[in-house]
This record gives sequence, C-alpha cells and structure tokens, in this order.
Amino acid sequence: MDKSIQIGKHKIDTRVFVAPMSGVTDLPFRKILRDLGAGAIVSEMVASEELSKGNLESLQRASGAGEIKPLIVQLAGREAKWMAEGARVAVQGGADIVDINMGCPARKVTKGLSGSALMRYPDHALDLIKATVDAVDVPVTLKTRLGWDDDMLNAPQIAARAEEAGVQAFVIHGRTRCQFYKGEADWAAVRRTREAVTKPLLVNGDILTPQDAADAIEQSGADGIMVGRGLVGAPWLIGQFQAAMDEGAPMMLSLAEQGDIVARHYHYALDFHGERLAVRMMRKHLAAYIDRAQISISDTARIQARNIACTQTSPDAVLKHLAAFYSGEYSERAA
Ligand SMILES: Cc1cc2nc3c(=O)[nH]c(=O)nc-3n(C[C@H](O)[C@H](O)[C@H](O)COP(=O)(O)O)c2cc1C
Repeated sequence: MDKSIQIGKHKIDTRVFVAPMSGVTDLPFRKILRDLGAGAIVSEMVASEELSKGNLESLQRASGAGEIKPLIVQLAGREAKWMAEGARVAVQGGADIVDINMGCPARKVTKGLSGSALMRYPDHALDLIKATVDAVDVPVTLKTRLGWDDDMLNAPQIAARAEEAGVQAFVIHGRTRCQFYKGEADWAAVRRTREAVTKPLLVNGDILTPQDAADAIEQSGADGIMVGRGLVGAPWLIGQFQAAMDEGAPMMLSLAEQGDIVARHYHYALDFHGERLAVRMMRKHLAAYIDRAQISISDTARIQARNIACTQTSPDAVLKHLAAFYSGEYSERAA
C-alpha cells in the first residue's frame, strides 16, 4: 500500500495524521510533535469569523510560525461568507490545507450551528463547503462524525456531495454527534463513507495502539488514520503509529528522554504563550504526562506529583519538579 496520501496538490508523506484538539494542538504541542517526526498535524479549530476580523487569539491558533509543514488549519463556522474569508486569511498566514470542522459536538459550538450541527442541515453545510473551496487555491478537507445521531447517519451523503464540490480528503470520527465521546468509535461504520467517495479518507476515534490502527484500517477501508487523545501525554507514540502505518523502526524513548521532551514542550509554551498563560495552558499536558509516565510509583505519589506540577506558578519550580519526577528520584522521595 502507498505510504503517502495525496491531498490535492500536496503529497503527504505519512498515513498518520494528528487530530485537531482545541486547547491542545496549539503551536507548542505541534512543534513537539514535529520534533518527534509527525508529518501532518491539524491546528486547533479556529473560529472563521474571529479569524477574519483579525482576532489575535484566532490568528495565533492558526499560526504555524513558518515552522509547521504542511500547515493544516481547521476552520469552524456557520456562515459561508465567514468561512470563505477565514480560509483566505488562513492561506495568507501560510496554510497549505484548510480543514472544515463538521465534527465538534460541544454545545457551545453546535448551538451556533457550527461543528457537527452542520450535519443536520446538509444543504447549508454544502453552501459553506463550496464557499470555502471557491475562496482559496489550496486543498480543502472535511472532518465529520458518522452523523448527528443513529437516525441520521448521513456522513456518506454529505461526503459525496462535498467531493463534488471539490473537497480533497475526508476524516470520519466513528461516532455520532449525540454520542459525544461515549461508547466506542465504530470503525466499520466509516466504510460506508469510504465507499461513497474516491478521495483519501482517514478513520478517527479511539485509535490508541498500533494494533488499533491496523484494525481501524481493516474495518473501515480507510487510507490512513487520525490520532488525537492517544498522543496527549505521550506524543512520542507518534513514532509507533508511523512505524506501523508507514513502516520503519518504532521510536523508543527512555524515561529521561521523555522528560527532556516534556521540558522542551514547556519551553516552547513559555516562548509562545508567555509565562502567565503558559503555566496555565501546560497544566492539562503535565497532568497527562504524569498520568501516563511509565514509572513504578504508588497512585498516591503520582497524584501528589500531578498536583505539584499543576499548582506551581513559577516555571522554574515546575521544571525542577519535572526533572526530579523523570529522574526517578521523585518516587523514592514521595514513598
Ligand atoms: C480536548 C479535545 C479537543 C478537540 N477539539 C477539536 C477541534 O478543535 N476540532 C475537531 O474537529 N475535533 C476536535 N476534537 C475531536 C478530535 O479531533 C477527535 O475527532 C476525537 O478526539 C476522536 O479521536 P481520538 O479518539 O483519537 O481522540 C477534540 C477532542 C478533544 C479530546
């Protein structure tokens, strides 16, 4: 099987994409993933209207700072004109690919008729897709769920129409909107969309191990995978997914090397967000890193380590604490 994925004019040299995650795939995390060899990472979703109006936070979310290639910017919105304008601004900012969010289940997003709510209104969704495709000369991709609920599993129909409108690749999260994140992703159900379109399709949802990746591909017939939560707190696992999907040797990092990555992630966040915001933004990452660290340590000591990492306000103190944690000293001290 081909180990690359052609998205419009771009040949992407991996079949493993990192999922857009609001509040998670900011530039510092994307840089860490890039350092670890990730070849395709989607930005956090960016509100198209805010981006069009030059909102600083939105511009930051969409930024690759010239360092992330290809730059894939995900846009959310409910009005065709803002999606079109948002796409233009994203491309001016360097976006190589614009992705449309039609999968976000959050009430605050669906209430505004963005994200997965668009799946309930396919005609409106298509207007929005067409406007985005027509606005830019970079490929546009579409990320959806299986449908709104079990009575409306319309991803295949929407994808087929979107393909006619010029969408160049698809990502399907194998859940409905109404499932939120409950239950298990149904990779086999993604096959109906695979059969409805000819452009590349990625399967997404609950892919946590290389074996999951193989199973998801087999069940869905997808060309590649998209992984989200499986990389939070363990971004180095990108190497294992890539080894399984693209071939090559899996990257194995020692605990000390993992500690170095975490510290580098922290420094990237300090540089990008500034001290005050970075300390807060990094807490969810640090909690995940500590929860998933393969250190033999009691639950109480782990909780204590996490609490310290997530309550310290001085970056130096946090970094010192992390250094102790990853050196293995911490478990002895806390025991
Ligand atoms: C914290 C968080 C934020 C997310 N933000 C976005 C987003 O901005 N855009 C989007 O399309 N999906 C978003 N998602 C959904 C993921 O992209 C992905 O579809 C979902 O997590 C299932 O994949 P996974 O099981 O590999 O995590 C988010 C998920 C999480 C957990």
